[in-house]
Amino acid sequence: MENLVVLSGAGVSAESGISTFRDSGGLWEQYRIEEVATPEAWEANFELVLDFYNMRRKNVLEVQPNQAHYEIAELEKEYNVHVITQNIDDLHERAGSKNVLHLHGEILLAKSSNPATLHVNEDYYPVDKGLIEKGDTCSNGFQLRPHVVWFGEPVPNLSIAEEIVGKADILLVIGTSLNVYPAANLLYFSKPSCKIYLIDPNQVNVSHDLDVKIIREKATDGMKTFRNLLK
Ligand code: OAD
Repeated sequence: MENLVVLSGAGVSAESGISTFRDSGGLWEQYRIEEVATPEAWEANFELVLDFYNMRRKNVLEVQPNQAHYEIAELEKEYNVHVITQNIDDLHERAGSKNVLHLHGEILLAKSSNPATLHVNEDYYPVDKGLIEKGDTCSNGFQLRPHVVWFGEPVPNLSIAEEIVGKADILLVIGTSLNVYPAANLLYFSKPSCKIYLIDPNQVNVSHDLDVKIIREKATDGMKTFRNLLK
């Protein structure tokens, strides 16, 4: 079976009812990154950060996968599929995708905020009650924080992602503005023979060095077009 790798971003979950970050009305128009998504934000006001991600988690728990997530899962019948997602939601998993690598963490998990253990042998805790609150602690007594990669933090799954992209025969980039690095660089780890497709209703700037077939549609329509193109 050919290796098909999907690199997804917020746009794949948009039709489920989760806001993207950089579209008009997106999350980064409503919140300042520096106040909710950096280690400094946590230091300055961790309760505000907890509130922000508690709202994100509530939203994720209220919505369902859309047809694009299901179509991606369906590809496993014909391809060896790996999904690399920048999304912190679990909609790919709920739609049935088996190999999902989260680059920026998972909102349904918490971890210790102890800076000494951060990114080394991390333990993850399910957020059973749907919220992380002040006073919720890990086994070592440190306040729990969301399992989310913030701006300025390393991306622990990056090298695994680079390896997966390097083996792709087909790479599908879907619903990402490719504004955030190092995720946006992953395209360059594809081998020269890899066929690259990009689904997005808006213009996404990709280097002219790469031969990318653009499908300028929303995720759900774009997945139908993509599957027809594969036939
Ligand atoms: P962005 O908000 O930057 O980009 C979303 C992309 O989805 C845009 O290119 C939109 O045109 C596209 N889009 C909108 N609606 C769509 C639809 N129905 N179908 C398909 N595409 C659609 O989101 P990401 O690229 O995922 O990181 O952002 C990357 C990272 O920036 C996120 O993981 C997050 C954010 O800050 C962290 O918080 C660390």
